[in-house]
Amino acid sequence: MPNDDLAAEIQELKKARNAVVLAHYYVDGEVQDVADFVGDSLQLSQAAARTTADVIVFAGVHFMAETAKILNPSRKVVLPDLAAGCSLAEGCPADRFAAFKARHPDHYVISYINCSAAVKALSDCICTSSNAERIVRSVPADRPILFAPDRNLGAYVAKQTGRELLLWRGSCVVHETFSERKLIALKTRHPGAVVLAHPECEPQLLALSDFIGSTSALLQHAKASAATSFIVVTESGILHQMRKSCPDKEFIPAPPEANCACNDCPFMKLNSLEAVHRALDTLAPEITLDEDLRVKALAPIERMLALSV
Ligand code: 13P
Ligand code: SF4
Repeated sequence: MPNDDLAAEIQELKKARNAVVLAHYYVDGEVQDVADFVGDSLQLSQAAARTTADVIVFAGVHFMAETAKILNPSRKVVLPDLAAGCSLAEGCPADRFAAFKARHPDHYVISYINCSAAVKALSDCICTSSNAERIVRSVPADRPILFAPDRNLGAYVAKQTGRELLLWRGSCVVHETFSERKLIALKTRHPGAVVLAHPECEPQLLALSDFIGSTSALLQHAKASAATSFIVVTESGILHQMRKSCPDKEFIPAPPEANCACNDCPFMKLNSLEAVHRALDTLAPEITLDEDLRVKALAPIERMLALSV
């Protein structure tokens, strides 16, 4: 079916199902354009917390849809492709994380939202890249902190807050792909460009950046800035909203080390227009959760939402 027809049918199915489509900035532009709400991880969990729809179709990855289900036990939550995982979540299995935590029983546990429900259930508070600094600052200064699973975000937040964080050594396959050498070359070719980077990037890339923030913060900065040219060091999907919001500005994706499209998250890109259409049509695959686990994972998410603006 042509994309226009698929998009029109998606709108019809949303009405028929009383469904809402939530999309992360990293999915393809055509999928962002059929969504009811597009945002970063924090905004999407806030949107999931306030929806009154019967069905949530989550155009994102598994941990995001799972978070929506934790917040909405009575609503149907559908992820267009169950294979949409995340290297950060997969690199932090709950049994190994529980053993790590047990070796540091005095630590306050902050987990980045990019983790499984089982890891959330072992955490004191969840954070996203939008509020990680705020969450860390909310912990009393004399309490040691264990931060998981992203070592790059953890190292960045430790630097910003002056707090020592015990880090789980996970990383994002997409944000680790950017080349320092190629970024330096790109900056030389575009001396007036502002470099925008996500804190999941490695420290040497962040050191070359002018502004560091979550996807929504990068978008806001691009909109508010007087500059007209930007080098974007994060997943390529965000360029769609940047170009839509600022048609007169230039956005240049930062190059990966290899000659590949490695700055596309392969998990996010599983959310094709066809997959979203199928999910609305069949209301599958559905996210389900053990109720005991859901309740344990809910408490640290609610703590995060209460501490967020
Ligand atoms: P944010 O949505 O917090 O910007 O994080 C980006 C990301 O990698 C989501 O998986
Ligand atoms: Fe996970 Fe990285 Fe993809 Fe985000 S971009 S979903 S952190 S693999």
